Amino acid sequence: MYYIGIDLGTSAVKLLLMDEKGKVLKIVSKEYPLFFPHPGWSEQNPSDWWEKSVEGLRELVADCDKRQIRGISFGGQMHGLVLLDGEDQVIRPAILWNDGRTTEETNYLNLEIGKERLSALTGNIAFAGFTAPKLLWVKRHEPEHFKRICKIMLPKDYLVYRLTGVHATDYSDASGMLLLDVEHKCWSKEMLQICDLQESKLPTLYESYEKIGVLLPEISKELGLPGDCIVAAGAGDNAAAAVGCGTVGPGRCNLSLGTSGTIFITHEQFGVDSFHALHSFAHADGNYHLMGCMLSAASCNNWWMKDILGTDDFAAEQKPLEARMLIGKADGQGTTGAGEAKTNQKMLGENQVYFLPYLMGERSPHNDPLARGAFIGMRMDTSRADMLQAVFEGVAFGLWDSLEMARSLGIKLEKTTICGGGAKSLLWREIVANVMNLEVQTVQVEEGPAYGAAILAAVADGQYGTVEDAVRSIVRIKDSTKPEPALVEKYKDRYEVFRRLYPALKGIYASL
Ligand code: XUL
Repeated sequence: MYYIGIDLGTSAVKLLLMDEKGKVLKIVSKEYPLFFPHPGWSEQNPSDWWEKSVEGLRELVADCDKRQIRGISFGGQMHGLVLLDGEDQVIRPAILWNDGRTTEETNYLNLEIGKERLSALTGNIAFAGFTAPKLLWVKRHEPEHFKRICKIMLPKDYLVYRLTGVHATDYSDASGMLLLDVEHKCWSKEMLQICDLQESKLPTLYESYEKIGVLLPEISKELGLPGDCIVAAGAGDNAAAAVGCGTVGPGRCNLSLGTSGTIFITHEQFGVDSFHALHSFAHADGNYHLMGCMLSAASCNNWWMKDILGTDDFAAEQKPLEARMLIGKADGQGTTGAGEAKTNQKMLGENQVYFLPYLMGERSPHNDPLARGAFIGMRMDTSRADMLQAVFEGVAFGLWDSLEMARSLGIKLEKTTICGGGAKSLLWREIVANVMNLEVQTVQVEEGPAYGAAILAAVADGQYGTVEDAVRSIVRIKDSTKPEPALVEKYKDRYEVFRRLYPALKGIYASL
């Protein structure tokens, strides 16, 4: 039996075919454009998502026995506002999770409605990328569009709708709308009033591992898939990635170094952090989680490599830095000898350069759409490699900011799994492990959200009793990077400098 996981990402849709035991049979990826129509805005066309997903699906199943395909599910970029009219046509391009246009609406919600009230209603405060502030923005700036709204959905739910004809969403993704009462898993009537929205315009809520329906007859015919192939609700990409990495059950952690950077901490009980710095969301296994989200993570590396250095050769660019790593040196396989390391060799934890990774503004913990990227501390001996190291370290420090919040709540973590494009770099993993003082584990199948989505489809089809059962039988750890106490100490000192940089620049950002 086969299951398909579809990860609707920000730069591409990734589709994965696995068998019921979790063996990956094929992966296909299709890119689509991302538009920045004004500085700080970020949009995509739902029609691009649909066309590329269908193209990808065709390619994915081209040479397998299609009769064996039992289910499809999703992991999707969160928070995006998709608006449909009475004919179920898309009203305007989707406004994405990393869009920063809603400063005024976010301030209205946090300051006038008030953070405490929002938190009591939804478990969360307003962040610029969340769905409710975007809805208020459309109401104010595009009233003709607002009037036409008949349905609101999140990005992956648009694909679900096109496949099944059902307007549905799941609790993990719905948590990021600021319309859901996360603790009680129902739409918040008061939030709907604040946003001038009727409940009939919202999708039906499901657990991520629940079946929504089957493929529409015309879709099953077009794709050659069985008419009884089920579609399961799926999850926000971070919850789906957590499932794909085995981060299910209490007190576990997953990091994602994708376009965004996230720290995802599982909880059996609903909980809110008193600083409102972390998101308090439902998990795809039926429980809850806390999450910190950086708007730019691996995208900082992409920007630095491609846009600034003008290279696609990420490995070559990292090579000089590998000489600074601990791992190769300890077992004698380093790219440089230990003798060299003792002389003038620069080391991890000693970089004079800092990078602030706020290229799209920042969500956690600063909640500041006006924040921007910055390099600071360059000297005449600063090298290209130091700058790249600063980019990796800046993202790791940003994740530490959120981890600090979690630690202040008494959450104790010793290890984490990691996924996303950035996690493929051993160097970056070593930096993260030592900055965050966590053992960092990779899993055998690295396709976090797509793999998690396929696992959710298998659970919805009854292959496994629970998401936890599925994960325990399917997900396997591949390798582990342990923090080195001496390096952890060095990074503690550097973090003390890093954490003072944003407050020092905040006023300047506002005037840029
Ligand atoms: C999470 C978030 C991002 C997107 C990226 O809150 O906004 O991780 O889901 O796809």
